[in-house]
Amino acid sequence: LCYRRQRQMCIRDRYCCLTVEKVLMQTLKELAEILPKAELHIHIEGSLEPAMMLDLAKRNGVELPYADIDAINEAYKFNCLQDFLDLYYQGMSVLQTEQDFHDLTWAYLQRCKQQNVVHCEIFFDPQGHTERGIGFPTFMNGIGSALTRAENELGISSKLIMCFLRHLDEQSAFATLESALPYLDSITAVGLDSSELGHPPNLFSRVFARAAELGLKRVAHAGEEGPPEYVYEALDLLQVDRIDHGNRSLENDALVKRLVDQKTPLTVCPQSNLRLAVIDKMAEHPIRKMLALGLNACVNSDDPAYFGGYMNENFFALIDSTGLTRDEIFKLVINGFESSFLAETEKQTHLNNINAMR
Ligand code: ADE
Ligand code: ZN
Repeated sequence: LCYRRQRQMCIRDRYCCLTVEKVLMQTLKELAEILPKAELHIHIEGSLEPAMMLDLAKRNGVELPYADIDAINEAYKFNCLQDFLDLYYQGMSVLQTEQDFHDLTWAYLQRCKQQNVVHCEIFFDPQGHTERGIGFPTFMNGIGSALTRAENELGISSKLIMCFLRHLDEQSAFATLESALPYLDSITAVGLDSSELGHPPNLFSRVFARAAELGLKRVAHAGEEGPPEYVYEALDLLQVDRIDHGNRSLENDALVKRLVDQKTPLTVCPQSNLRLAVIDKMAEHPIRKMLALGLNACVNSDDPAYFGGYMNENFFALIDSTGLTRDEIFKLVINGFESSFLAETEKQTHLNNINAMR
């Protein structure tokens, strides 16, 4: 018997059997590559590649503690979310002008084009910029012009999600919402990100209620490092439409049942989970368990420049390490579009295209 596939060896020896397995994996990767995909959990500041960080630092006269790309890659070894966040906020300090934000966003959208990501819902962190004296017009116009250009030149649709930094207080979140009022036409939702432990969703109930009154949709990072109670708070107090990450929901059966019953989307980020020590090994990633439980999970890159890859690399890692199947790949991709903030007719167009590839 073949020791890996647990069946009669197909031809002469175990090497050929392994070759068959490799070929199967290859076709699954090709499938993940060619399927049109939606990305719902991507921090635009987390798509700042080391090379662009160095270029912008030079262009803007910003000092960084890195001599070169190797030094940056050496520094990107994280034991937890906070280790990463410290470098993430430092990295975004090179973003100073409207052109910088345009270049950053355009580079991400070109990756989307290469990877068949045809729709994206992009987080941005205003307080990461306003705290350093960069105003709303600078980042809104820079990001916005790249999104319009991508719609026209690349055929990629997008939505913007404005995140509140949860390590800052409610007053700062309210001031951010106030500053965003002139831009509400281009913002679809608000989100909650940054250091999760010790900063529960309930602290932001009132600002999320105000965002709802303004007609904004709501999402929140919860259950990445924080306990299941934070996921409950995000659902009950912030009235979110989606949970970002949500991994630790699996610790609470009643919560899982509720998420399944409500079909609450979980925007899951495998390589982020590995690099931030939410899981020890990719082989232990719970994405297949989530699907088996009936959870509405989809795959996303989170901060691709920091975690080793974009959308397709996240699928490849799952294919290599978890035994992800063809049906599961389709399910994850379909969940992405169904969980998006696209209009129903637009969702249906994408779903029809995907189903035609079955
Ligand atoms: N900001 C950028 N990436 C984040 C993550 N994975 N969790 C919380 N805040 C973030
Ligand atoms: Zn995130």
